[in-house]
Amino acid sequence: MFPETRLRRLRQNAGIRSMLNTPLPGPEKMIWPAFVIEGAAKREPIESMPGQSRLSADQLLIDLEPVVESGIGGVLLFGLVEDSEKDHTGTAAYHENGVVQHAIREVKKRFPELVVTADVCVCAYTDHGHCGPLTTNGDVDNDAANEVLAKIALSHAVAGADIVAPSAMMDGQVQAIRTALDANGFDQTLLMSYSTKFASAMYGPFRDAEKSCPGKGDRKGYQASYGDLRTALRESEMDEAEGADILMVKPSLFYLDVLTRLRENTDLPIAAYNVSGEYSMLHACAERGWGDLKGMVQESTAALVRSGADILISYWANQYDELFRN
Ligand code: PBG
Ligand code: ZN
Repeated sequence: MFPETRLRRLRQNAGIRSMLNTPLPGPEKMIWPAFVIEGAAKREPIESMPGQSRLSADQLLIDLEPVVESGIGGVLLFGLVEDSEKDHTGTAAYHENGVVQHAIREVKKRFPELVVTADVCVCAYTDHGHCGPLTTNGDVDNDAANEVLAKIALSHAVAGADIVAPSAMMDGQVQAIRTALDANGFDQTLLMSYSTKFASAMYGPFRDAEKSCPGKGDRKGYQASYGDLRTALRESEMDEAEGADILMVKPSLFYLDVLTRLRENTDLPIAAYNVSGEYSMLHACAERGWGDLKGMVQESTAALVRSGADILISYWANQYDELFRN
């Protein structure tokens, strides 16, 4: 009790504080999400995500140079194709030399130690923008989607991806992908499931970047409801049972309770996806002079680690030296 106990003793100077504080995550804990386009020498800054661009594979290699130099652990690749290549099922997502498959080969050739993850979904490849083919009444056909997702994941594994990451939120997608990988000799390819992924208003800048906004309707019929915590946790439990190696909570800053609960429920590694809206929100705030970017980035990232994240999927990763080194 006061006055014998004085907690301020424990934070009276910087030396004591840094001895007691959990350190900020090192760059090796981070995965940088990057957007790949077809062609060469192409670079399109994404207006809604300052500091991020759509890059052709050759430009991606250039931008990865300093990222790898700073010690970032991995990259997560998202592809874009021309509208003329989009179709009802998203077949361009599993072309042998598609945009992502090509980028995986290039990145692995140049940076063999960098962990390469590929996002497995079709919303950037379907003409309707949903995460699977549609039935005649306009719903996503779950089991048909699983067949496509398995083909995509296999094509990524063939190209040399270390990790495949299904983000479509279809029931049974993890099982379908694991089965396809194992049947084709890819039993060492890791499967990181977007296991608890919410239908969120925080994906706006990403959909702008990826041009993957659904033409009609929304994703509430497949992505988890933020009002239903128990079902959201079951999503991750199911994926663990189906053989996921790594689980994920996405978005992350609005879902620290979910991260904490999941951390208590599982011994699998957990990734936190610090999504586009969370990224651009801090940028917009700092741009207006309403907050210090570096301070906000460090504080929010510390919250993710404290809540139980092992891996951070973060657009801050390509700015690690400026934002995380003091
Ligand atoms: C698509 C996908 C989305 C994100 C990752 N994969 C958007 C969505 O589900 O609509 C969001 C990432 C971000 O906002 O940073 N399957
Ligand atoms: Zn999708």
